Parts: sequence; structure tokens; C-alpha cells
Amino acid sequence: MSRVSDPHLGRTVVAADEIQERVAALGKEITHDYGDDPPLLVGVLKGAFVFMSDLARAIDLPVEFDFMAVSSYGAATRTSGVVRILMDLDVELTGRHVLIVEDIVDSGLTLAYLRRNLAARGPASLEVCTLLLKEGLQRDDPDLRYVGFRIPPAFVVGYGLDVVERYRNLPYVAEYTGHLPE
Ligand code: IMP
Repeated sequence: MSRVSDPHLGRTVVAADEIQERVAALGKEITHDYGDDPPLLVGVLKGAFVFMSDLARAIDLPVEFDFMAVSSYGAATRTSGVVRILMDLDVELTGRHVLIVEDIVDSGLTLAYLRRNLAARGPASLEVCTLLLKEGLQRDDPDLRYVGFRIPPAFVVGYGLDVVERYRNLPYVAEYTGHLPE
């Protein structure tokens, strides 16, 4: 089924050209902020892989990459706050400038866990760049250094975000209006 005829795809929340423009701006900002201390980009799989790939190419510094895969226990589309590390980093973080790259911050629970976990490994600095921030749902201030877009709290797919592994390759972010698995 093509994108245009998919009845479960609702309105476009962030268009492809808006994403590209914002990613370029974030890349410039990160390039400027880190200067002589290129960050280690830590991508949170799977959702962040599309954003991370575009963002990294917009940063004009010799960045390095690593990835973590995490999964929340419980509901597939809502976090319980209990996070499981499915795949850990390859590199040590001691003394590194670490920039976590996230696709979306919803309740902020996944990120809070990740931040605590990575902070305990002794990085020189630890910051977060998220493409999307759902407004009004975070329990604590998630302390995000870089935010691509603030969006209303609807369930969205595309540009890395999925429903049961689908829609990650949409070049834009759209509302998902179909049934969400519990
Ligand atoms: P949090 O712990 O509630 O902030 O949830 C973060 C994780 O939930 C993200 O990394 C996504 O994997 C998933 N998630 C939250 N909202 C959405 C959404 O609207 N679409 C797709 N995945 C989402």
C-alpha cells in the first residue's frame, strides 16, 4: 500500500523539507558548540537511526558514533519507565563528550534512565539532542540541550519512528490514526 492511500496515516506533523532545514540548523549549532571537542554521538536504536544519519552529516566535526538499543517493558506504545538495555555501547565513555541522539521524548522516562546510566560511566559532558519533544507530558524537566520540534501529544510515525516496525522509512513525521497495540 502506498503512503497516500494508507488510511492509518493522518496529518503531516513535520514535513520532509522542514526536517531537513531544522537538522541542518541543529548540525551548525552543534558544530559551533563543541568546536575543538567533537562529541561521541550515541544513537538510541532503533528509532534514532534516520535522524542520527542526517544529523551527523550536518555536523562539521570529526564525530564518532556508537549505538545502544533499549526497550521498555510493558506496553509497546507507552513506556512503563522500566528500561532494558538490549545492546550496550562498544566504547568507554570516561572523559568523552557524549551527545545522546533520540528520536522522541514522550514521558521522558526512557531518557531519564539512559542519562543516569551513561552519567555513571564518567563522561566529560553529557547532553541530549532529540528530534521531537511531545509537549506537556514530561514528569520532570528532561533537560534537553537540542530539540528539533515541539509537537502536540499525538502518536506519530515516520523518520525513524514506528508502529510495530512499520513506517520508519517515511521521510516525514505523520500522525498515526490506526489501532495502537497495547
Ligand atoms: P518515553 O520514555 O515516554 O519518553 O518514550 C520514549 C520512547 O517511546 C521513544 O524512544 C519511542 O521509542 C517511543 N515513543 C514515544 N512516543 C512515540 C510516538 O509518538 N511514536 C513512536 N514512538 C514513540
